Amino acid sequence: ASMFSAADVAVTYSHSLGHDLPVEELRLPEDFGWGAATAAYQIEGAASQDGKGKSVWDTYSHLQPSRTNGQHADVSCDHYNRMPEDVDLMASLGIEVYRFSISWSRVIPLGGRNDPVNEKGLAFYNDLINRLVARGIKPVVTLYHWDTPQALYDRYGGLLDTAEFRADFARYARLCFTQFGDRVRKWVTFNEPYITSIFAHLNGTLAPGHCREAGTDTKTEPWRVGHTILLSHTDVVLMYACEFQPSQKGDISIVLNGHFYEPFDAGSPADRAAAKRRMVFYIGWFGDPVFLGRDYPAEMRSYLGSRLPEFMPEERDLLRQAAPLNAFYGMNHYSTKYARKLSEPPAEDDWTGNIEESSVNSEGKEVGPASAMGWLRVAPEGFRKLLGWVWERYHVPIIVTENGCPCVGEDDLATAVDDKFRQRYLGLYLDAISRAIYEDGVAVKGYYVWSLMDNYEWSAGYGPRYGIVHVDYETLKRTPKNSALYLRDTFKRRRGVS
Ligand code: NOJ
Repeated sequence: ASMFSAADVAVTYSHSLGHDLPVEELRLPEDFGWGAATAAYQIEGAASQDGKGKSVWDTYSHLQPSRTNGQHADVSCDHYNRMPEDVDLMASLGIEVYRFSISWSRVIPLGGRNDPVNEKGLAFYNDLINRLVARGIKPVVTLYHWDTPQALYDRYGGLLDTAEFRADFARYARLCFTQFGDRVRKWVTFNEPYITSIFAHLNGTLAPGHCREAGTDTKTEPWRVGHTILLSHTDVVLMYACEFQPSQKGDISIVLNGHFYEPFDAGSPADRAAAKRRMVFYIGWFGDPVFLGRDYPAEMRSYLGSRLPEFMPEERDLLRQAAPLNAFYGMNHYSTKYARKLSEPPAEDDWTGNIEESSVNSEGKEVGPASAMGWLRVAPEGFRKLLGWVWERYHVPIIVTENGCPCVGEDDLATAVDDKFRQRYLGLYLDAISRAIYEDGVAVKGYYVWSLMDNYEWSAGYGPRYGIVHVDYETLKRTPKNSALYLRDTFKRRRGVS
């Protein structure tokens, strides 16, 4: 790649949002696409409207109120009933891409391959997609954003039964490609499989809440869930490529999250190795089978032994065939952390590679200023390094499918609208992308902010507000924050569009 400094192509403008200091913004390619992201359970509400079936989240948020800040998403942003206005709002904000997820149990209430389809659920997503397309907004659709149909969990444990889940997921995916694939050009199978595996099946902080205290087998369960996701993903990528891609001409892949890890003590070889190992356990776990078409990383095998499932020879063939068909690496990224090797032997159900993580290093240095969530720090340098890490390991174009932050005090509308902290965070993270592209030669193709609007943040309920649009949960009124206008304008400036 021909490389020059991003600073060479910087554009300078006067910041109109609260102070007059000139701010330098780094250039982005003209064809760089920007958008906003959401997920069904977090925004739709309408929990049992028009024949929708329950998902594990509907159950969990009602049975386990202490684990979700006492809150559920029965109504949430009521996007299901306000969708036309929300699409108009997106258009007015200059949003070019909208990443959303389909609620599986809205289109197949019981979820299974022999269960009936809900026409009203299909009609909702058809209407949404048509309205987006009519306004020139490109839909990017996630099939699975954590909301397994409850009936499948009741029947066989959901993701715990690899064979059953694969068959049901394939039927659901086929339905979506058939119904929506003439207008949807970008598909994501699974969102953040690491989170589903570890947080939902080991720490128990996400639905269905499996954890040691509840007596589940945390030694093997998360790895089996990961295995199910990988094989289900592989089936559906191959299905799309064989049956739909030739006529529909879209792309498909997966979205992986991951922090960038720096050593806790940069002078310690053990911590330096720990930081590297942590990324392999976090990202390589899914990235290597998906993008390299091969077994789990060797380092994971040697730490986890038989806790980690095996791929059968025919499954290895499938992985190999599917690998080059994954058209992009969907990256969800928010923050950097420090990794420290633990001196004690690993716990029975260790999932980290015997590592402890923190936001402060051995010299007491914070990884970056904190957002409204303690772990989420402003650390754009780590983002740039992560983009390089992924590019070097997988050599596939990257789309940043989520990035953003919640600010302090955003329940108050005036504070929320004047979101300088978020604007700064987003501006610095966009600069990191520019540097990755122009100085490091990384292929980064697009950026979707999390999130279009404030919404239900899973175990944190309605506490943290990630939206570029504020939602008043009493009146459901939407008010764009200044960051929404900042993004609209900064992409014009950065891409040189006048
Ligand atoms: C990850 C998830 O995909 C999304 O659902 C969540 O709300 C954001 N990141 C923020 O934590």
